[in-house]
Amino acid sequence: MSNQKAFVPTMGALHDGHLSLIQIAKQYSSDVVVSVFVNPLQFESPTDLENYPRDVEGDTLKAQSAGATEIWTPTTAEIYPDEVSPISAGVIGELYEGANRNGHFDGVLTVVDRLFKHVQPTWAIFGEKDFQQLFIIRKWVKEMKLPIEVIAAPIIRDLDGLALSSRNVRLNKEDRKVALVISRALRQATHERSVETARDRLHDVLSSEPNFTVDYAEIINEESFAPATGSKRARALVAGWVNGVRLLDNMQMQTQVII
Ligand code: PAJ
Repeated sequence: MSNQKAFVPTMGALHDGHLSLIQIAKQYSSDVVVSVFVNPLQFESPTDLENYPRDVEGDTLKAQSAGATEIWTPTTAEIYPDEVSPISAGVIGELYEGANRNGHFDGVLTVVDRLFKHVQPTWAIFGEKDFQQLFIIRKWVKEMKLPIEVIAAPIIRDLDGLALSSRNVRLNKEDRKVALVISRALRQATHERSVETARDRLHDVLSSEPNFTVDYAEIINEESFAPATGSKRARALVAGWVNGVRLLDNMQMQTQVII
């Protein structure tokens, strides 16, 4: 059906990770809507919100060349015309990224709800880069029985292994070397044969780099988001700081882990 849309929500400053989502969207529909909206509700600090990179012209060109047919750049007044009562992301919204950023996932769900209502997509594409976000949105779409299929897109990395992120431009050459400890730790941990050894390996590799400060490093069960005990579908998550820049990454366990 020609009016069935595929939707890629973003906050702009588009890089190849975002563009890969647009290319995936194109496999579902010729009609691909990309939204660019820096959502104030999901930022904890006003300076962080202010400093978020903005480049609407560049984003429009990039999104179009990746296959987007509509770039929607709403204003804050358009998304939030009245006082907002945020949607709760529940207990999982308070773990990991949520523990570090109070109310973050409530802000994400609230904006995604409004974006979905406006675009009314059949498919919505989210990156595994933000695995907890993907999990929370999927769960909410299911609970709300929304007629939208959530599609997961794999993480796009630079050749050296660093996951693409708009924050990477703030890393100098030395910082970048330090940051590579994240993908190195994930790669090694996800090739371990048990959750216990994977956890140990993750922590060992991360602590071998004194200039990386860990926020969290955990192996979780992909279906429940609880710490993994022996699930086949487990994933290693890492977040932390390199020279004032917060980085986030994850990787699925490669081997069948042993209970
Ligand atoms: P933003 O950070 O702009 O990311 C938009 C989408 O791009 C998300 O689904 C994210 O997971 C995906 N993405 C980012 N880097 C990626 C990479 N290296 N590989 C694959 N996908 C990647 O996430 C948000 O915006 C916001 O929270 C949003 C959902 C738009 C709500 O405001």
